[in-house]
This record gives sequence, structure tokens and C-alpha cells, in this order.
Amino acid sequence: MSIQSSTRRLTAPDIAARKGGEPVVSLTAYHAHTAQLLDEYVDFMLVGDSLGMVMHGLESTIGVTLEMMILHGKAVVRGSKRALIVVDLPFGSYEETPSQAFASASRVMRETGCGAVKLEGGTRMAETIRFLAERGVPVMAHIGLTPQSFHTMGGFKIQGREKAQWKMLIEDGVAVSEAGAFAVVIEGVAAPLAEKITKAVPIPTIGIGASAQCDGQILVLEDMLGLTPRVPKFVKIYGKVGSAIEGAVKAYAQEVRSGAFPDDAHTYAMKKAKK
Ligand code: KIV
Repeated sequence: MSIQSSTRRLTAPDIAARKGGEPVVSLTAYHAHTAQLLDEYVDFMLVGDSLGMVMHGLESTIGVTLEMMILHGKAVVRGSKRALIVVDLPFGSYEETPSQAFASASRVMRETGCGAVKLEGGTRMAETIRFLAERGVPVMAHIGLTPQSFHTMGGFKIQGREKAQWKMLIEDGVAVSEAGAFAVVIEGVAAPLAEKITKAVPIPTIGIGASAQCDGQILVLEDMLGLTPRVPKFVKIYGKVGSAIEGAVKAYAQEVRSGAFPDDAHTYAMKKAKK
């Protein structure tokens, strides 16, 4: 039976077992209705802290709170039945100590019903990943371009385009894998480096702007649907949802203004009087 036709919800070990096999397919999801649409086609959905920028108009992911992640996480779990749901731990909710990370992760898992959490950082977060994994929290790591480091990186900067950066980034991949992460997102790195990290670790690498050499791929749903005005080079646009929404709203506004809507087909008549 292929993983796509399974009816039970996929788990972190199911994703871990895909290393070097059929590519892992994933997208972000923030709402129940999109989760329902995606559920049949993806292996996991990420309730990413990118929701701060995509849904809430923030400039970066720094302002996202645990409460925001839990609210959207609950909606995505309710809207799905099959895919593993991974929820991001937001900036400031896990970096201080492993105990702080466990308090945040256990709250996210308990309140949303998700099957795993994701956190950013390589070698520097290894101790925390081990602490969580040993206590029943499946952890997806995230290395390379880590958006929560927006201010220390000086923006969203592609990593590993110079060989001098490779050693540290490969070590990041190995460190999170040895610490017990079940998979690792590699974001915004030069393609040959993504391949090197993928070969160096026994867990699936999930690429976003990191080439087809990774064990799977993830994109932000709104980016690939054509809803985001400007997208990075690594995003392929698979839909024209932004212009479809605009066209529908324009037609609705015109019909309301002209009186064409609502017509008889969309209004209620009185019940026929009984004789
Ligand atoms: O927050 C997010 O959407 C992410 C993906 C870009 C991997 O972390």
C-alpha cells in the first residue's frame, strides 16, 4: 500500500522512513479549509510561522506568538485526517533553555493535537532537540536560511554560496540528526551544499530553495498559488488564485452596484398560502 492511500494519519516515524525513497511532499497550511484540500496530496502540512507574514501582514516571523501558532494549528488539525501536522515553535518560545522548549512544545502538541513541532537552528539547538526527542516530542529541525534569524543574518540571505560556509552548515545537519530530529528542513542554500547535507544525514531533508537533491520539498501554499505579490526565485507558481479572487470580487461588486445580484435564483419567495 502506498503512503498516499493510507487512511490513518501519518506520523513522524513514517516521514523518517522515507529517507532516500519516494520524495516527501509538503506544503504550509494555516486554515481548516485549505488543510482539507491539501490532505489527500501531501505527506505533511506545516503550520509555519510564515503565517505571521502571509496571514497577519508582519514584516518577519519575529512577532509571531505561541497563541497564534496554537490557534492556526488547531484549525489545520481539525481540517485534516491523513497528513502529519507539524507546528512551528515561534521565536522566543524555545531558545532559552530545553525546559522552556519542552513547555512550549508540549503545550502546542496538547492544545492542537499536532504530531510534531519544528524549530530553527542547527548545532546550537542540538541539546534542545535531544531533550525534546527523549521526552516524546517529535522534532523537525530547520537549518540554512532560518527566517527567525532575520535580524542577525541581516535579512533573508541564501546560505552556502561560498565554500567557506559549508563546514558549519553540514555540521548543523549532522548535529540535529544525531540529536534525534526525525527530519530537517533545509532552506535557501546553494544546490551542491543541499546535496552534500542530504548525503551526510540519515534523516529526510526537506528542501525549500535547496534543490531536487533533497529527500522532499516544501513551499508556502500562498506563494505557489500565486497569492503572494512577490516571491523568491525558488518558488514555482502553480496557480493563479490571486487573479481568480480579484476577478470574482470585481464581478460581485459590479453586480451589487448594478442591482444584478441578488437575482431571483438567489432570493427566497414566500411559502404558498394554504387554502
Ligand atoms: O514558516 C514556514 O512556512 C517555514 C517554511 C518556509 C519551511 O518554516
